[in-house]
Amino acid sequence: MPASSLAVTDVVAGYNSTPVLNGVSITARPATITAVLGANGAGKTTLLRTISGFVRTRGGQVRLDDVSLTRLAPDHIARAGVAHVPEGQGVITELTVEENLKLGLLLRRRADRAAALEDAYRKFSILADRRRRHAATLSGGERQMLVIARALLSAPRVLLLDEPSLGLAPKVVAQVMDLVRQLRDESGLTVLLVEQNARSALSIADQGVVLNLGKVVATAAAGELAADVALRRHYLGF
Ligand SMILES: Nc1ncnc2c1ncn2[C@@H]1O[C@H](COP(=O)(O)OP(=O)(O)OP(=O)(O)O)[C@@H](O)[C@H]1O
Ligand SMILES: [Mg+2]
Repeated sequence: MPASSLAVTDVVAGYNSTPVLNGVSITARPATITAVLGANGAGKTTLLRTISGFVRTRGGQVRLDDVSLTRLAPDHIARAGVAHVPEGQGVITELTVEENLKLGLLLRRRADRAAALEDAYRKFSILADRRRRHAATLSGGERQMLVIARALLSAPRVLLLDEPSLGLAPKVVAQVMDLVRQLRDESGLTVLLVEQNARSALSIADQGVVLNLGKVVATAAAGELAADVALRRHYLGF
């Protein structure tokens, strides 16, 4: 299947009368990683929640290739090919690793499920070794791998990742970034990667977008953003 592009155009969205996103535009080309950066409260999570349909769009458009996602319900957006991994390594701790993974298969045809699960175990050997353990017994890094693996089981075309490196040791952050890079290079996924860890995100991203107070203040090639000392100091904290 060819890779997909995601286009967010002039999006206005928020939670009450004052919008959080004030006309945000981002174009993610097929099989690329877009790092979405910015300080606490900039609107990064709100952007991902708007794309997924959890926050209603009040203006502008979201498109996946030539399909408008703008007013679709979250389950239809997921079926269209958008998978969302929220902040906070949200595994269900009372369930086993395999039971958590099976939740990711609900959108798949029954006939494809067993093969998809085996595929996930091939890609994530650490999860294969722990398939019968309760998710409560996993480390933070293993939980992050589990939520990403679960999202991939729906066979998405676009992956939205909200701060996957949060709370992880540097070595584990590097593993997560390597995985995201592989998903682009080998599976042709189009990724929006929200990160506080701007340096790590830009090291694997194709382009970077900096949000501030619900507006895009910079969009450029990742290398270009990483080399912009003033912008880094001002918005990215490194
Ligand atoms: N459920 C909500 N109800 C009302 N306001 C909210 C809600 N969630 C977020 N906000 C507000 O929207 C703004 C943007 O929040 P958002 O979570 O999108 O920022 P963020 O860039 O993801 O920040 P962080 O880096 O801290 O995760 C903030 O001012 C926040 O207070
Ligand atoms: Mg956030």
